[in-house]
Amino acid sequence: MISAQTIVNQLIHQNAPYSPKTEGTAFAPVNIALIKYWGKRNNALNLPVTDSLSIGLRTLGTTTSIRLHQGQDIIYLNNERLPFDHPFAQRTSRYLDLFRRQPNDGFMVMTKNDVPTGAGLASSASGYAALVLALNDLFQWQLDKTQLSILARIGSGSACRSLWDGLVHWHAGQQDDGLDSYATPLVYQLPTLRIGLLTLSNKTKPVSSRIGMQQTVHGLSLYPAWKTMVDTHLTQITQAFEKQDINGIGKISEHNALAMHATMLSASPALCYFLPETLATLQTLWSAREAGLNCWATLDAGPNVKLLFEAETAHDVKKLFPDINIIQPFVS
Ligand code: DP6
Repeated sequence: MISAQTIVNQLIHQNAPYSPKTEGTAFAPVNIALIKYWGKRNNALNLPVTDSLSIGLRTLGTTTSIRLHQGQDIIYLNNERLPFDHPFAQRTSRYLDLFRRQPNDGFMVMTKNDVPTGAGLASSASGYAALVLALNDLFQWQLDKTQLSILARIGSGSACRSLWDGLVHWHAGQQDDGLDSYATPLVYQLPTLRIGLLTLSNKTKPVSSRIGMQQTVHGLSLYPAWKTMVDTHLTQITQAFEKQDINGIGKISEHNALAMHATMLSASPALCYFLPETLATLQTLWSAREAGLNCWATLDAGPNVKLLFEAETAHDVKKLFPDINIIQPFVS
């Protein structure tokens, strides 16, 4: 099995001149998957079973700055210094191990998320994308977006899509080394699309995506049907993008998200990220839709709900869900 270190060494040419700056900084947007990534063919490299497709939130994301220093890593999350044994600090340091020249090389990382961390609002995606961009700035690697997407994917799968605003396609690839598994931006613009974030819980999810995926993929579950469904959804959603059909996009996205949760529920033991508030929100939405509201939901590995709708519907959506945070992913 090819290790993450082998891939990193190949991409950043360890023999290239070493001229780090004092500090590297970067911002990366949160991305919301419309066609989800759920299931890996390789856990060490986060290689997915299927392609996936997302939309960047442009104004919401992670800002990270990074410096070199001697000794153990120092990690700040949202202005708070984390203890070394904090799960976020440990995971970040394990990833940074891939980029140390000497074992005693430490990093000081300051990272700020615009969305709650680990609550299924895709903070790990923007987090690892911002970290890779900040490292690229610090070490002046001058890597291209494909190479950066591969490095971000090694940190967290969905992070490979967070290097762009707008619509992004992550190609699953087929190679064992994953050098063909990276994201590319799509040309379609949807200026009237709005995304509404309903934060129902700020708590870190009890089961990480990584563990959740393993639980769903291995053993008896509906997972085999999921793969076929993703292929169909990818074809359908591309046609909807071409027609700028936001209701069509919403409908396919909602179906895809609920199908992903259905595969989780069909695992043994079952995996359920929904809270009672999640179901209540979906039921409110579905009733409103029956009464004529064109609005659709998508959910990731957490209880929070994201809504997709046309700008002209924003007023009615806000009336139904007053706490909603509405984002305009494309500049009009
Ligand atoms: C449900 O990218 O967080 O949000 O690769 O293990 O870090 P790891 O998983 P992660 O999984 C995201 C899963 C999802 C769907 C998606 O964003 O496509």
